[in-house]
Amino acid sequence: MSLGKIIDKKNNNLSMRLDRQKVPEHIAIIMDGNGRWATKKGLPRTYGHKRGVSVLKEILKVSKKLGCKVLTVYAFSTENWTRPRKEVDFLINLFSEVLSDEIKELHEESTKIKFIGDLTPFPKTLKKIISSSESLTKNNKKFLLNVCVNYGGRQEIVKVAKKIALKTSSGEIKLSEVNEKLFNSELLTRGIKDPELLIRTSGEKRISNFLLWQLAYSEIYISNVMWPDFNEFEFLKAIIDYQSRNRRFGGIESLPNESFEDSQYSS
Ligand code: IPE
Ligand code: IPE
Ligand code: MG
Repeated sequence: MSLGKIIDKKNNNLSMRLDRQKVPEHIAIIMDGNGRWATKKGLPRTYGHKRGVSVLKEILKVSKKLGCKVLTVYAFSTENWTRPRKEVDFLINLFSEVLSDEIKELHEESTKIKFIGDLTPFPKTLKKIISSSESLTKNNKKFLLNVCVNYGGRQEIVKVAKKIALKTSSGEIKLSEVNEKLFNSELLTRGIKDPELLIRTSGEKRISNFLLWQLAYSEIYISNVMWPDFNEFEFLKAIIDYQSRNRRFGGIESLPNESFEDSQYSS
């Protein structure tokens, strides 16, 4: 049997365990480990970033196949500017290149692409490609791909706080009107439901300033696989694991034979 066939069989076996009715609608991913993956192979870190793009394409394809509706990926954080200039420049060029190469197909598949983050420091060329890609795909309905670039969760929250402070001080809104719903409506992710599942690759157990507000009740799955080695099989594993979780949102599991009235504290 060819390697491709063996992989297909492995994926098929796993996808049979997947509950199609319980696939998360929105999955967020911290695509981590590109640099370490390349370094371990004796290659420059940039090879890892290049390979990471192919993995994203594969995961996007699988997400659509499974019926997931939104993917939000962390591509460049507000803290990633502290990396060597050469790596930062490489990443910026890669974003432009990949976007120019892929936009046609994304559009044909009715995928809407949205960039989340402060785009101001990026070069004009990248900003132009981003804005034309966003406007080309803005009415697409099948799938939403959010790419977080120069994104930081704390910065996003501070921005919203400032905006609301300004509105209250000018009298546009009352202090009593400030609530979670209003806050939500000012976020960069406004209108998009919170991710049910966050996947981080490379084994790191932190969220590194990603979607601090939005991840409040997301299920977290840490994969030890480096992003360039992540694939359909690992992605299915993450979703199956998610499906076994008991999401309580601060409540309790409903117990079959006991109601609150029956309990010893009710009398
Ligand atoms: C994630 O991989 C991609 C970006 C942050 C742009 P890294 O570049 O962080 O790779 P590691 O974590 O150093 O291996
Ligand atoms: C998070 O990864 C950012 C992206 C994947 C774009 P980092 O590699 O920057 O995070 P830390 O430094 O391990 O926390
Ligand atoms: Mg990293």
